[in-house]
Amino acid sequence: MKRWRPGDRRESSSAMIRVDQAGEYGATRIYAGQLAVMGDRTEAARAIAGMANQEKRHQRFFDAMVVKRGVRPTALQPFWDVAGFALGAATAAIGPEAAMACTVAVETEIDLHYQDQLVRLGKSDPELAGAIAEFRAEELEHRDAALAAGAEQAPAYPVLSGLIRFGCRAAIALSKRF
Ligand SMILES: [Fe+2]
Ligand SMILES: [Fe+2]
Repeated sequence: MKRWRPGDRRESSSAMIRVDQAGEYGATRIYAGQLAVMGDRTEAARAIAGMANQEKRHQRFFDAMVVKRGVRPTALQPFWDVAGFALGAATAAIGPEAAMACTVAVETEIDLHYQDQLVRLGKSDPELAGAIAEFRAEELEHRDAALAAGAEQAPAYPVLSGLIRFGCRAAIALSKRF
C-alpha cells in the first residue's frame, strides 16, 4: 500500500472520499436489505429507517464530493451493492437483535476509520474533516441505539460481530485502492 506523507493532501483526500463514498453507500444497502426483510411496522424497523435516512445524507455528501473534487469512485460499487444488501437481509432474517448487532459491528469499525481519517487530515481539509466529524457523531448514535435495542442478545453475538467487523475492515482496505 502506498505510504501517506504529510503534504500529500490531494492524493490522500481523494482516497478518503473514495472509501467514504463506498462505505456510506454500503451502509444504505445494508439498511435497505434489513428493511426489505423486516417491513416497516416494528419498533426495530422504525429505528432502522431513521438510521437509513442519515446514511442517505452521508452518502449524498460524498457523492457530491466525488463530483466536485473529480475523485475516481470505487470500481467495487456493484459488489458493495450486493454484499451490503445481502448482509442486511441475512442479519434481519436471523432476527431484530442480529440486525442491531450488524449496526454495532459496522459502526464500531466506521468510528475507528473516521477517527483515523480525522487524525490524518488534521487542519489540511476543513470541508472534508468537518463532514467526517459530524457523520462520525451520528454513527456513534447508531451504535448506541443498536446496543440499547438489544444487539448483544443476538444469537452467537461474538462470532457474528467478529465476522462483520472483519468484513468491514476488508471492505475499507479494498475501497481505498480499487
Ligand atoms: Fe454513515
Ligand atoms: Fe451509520
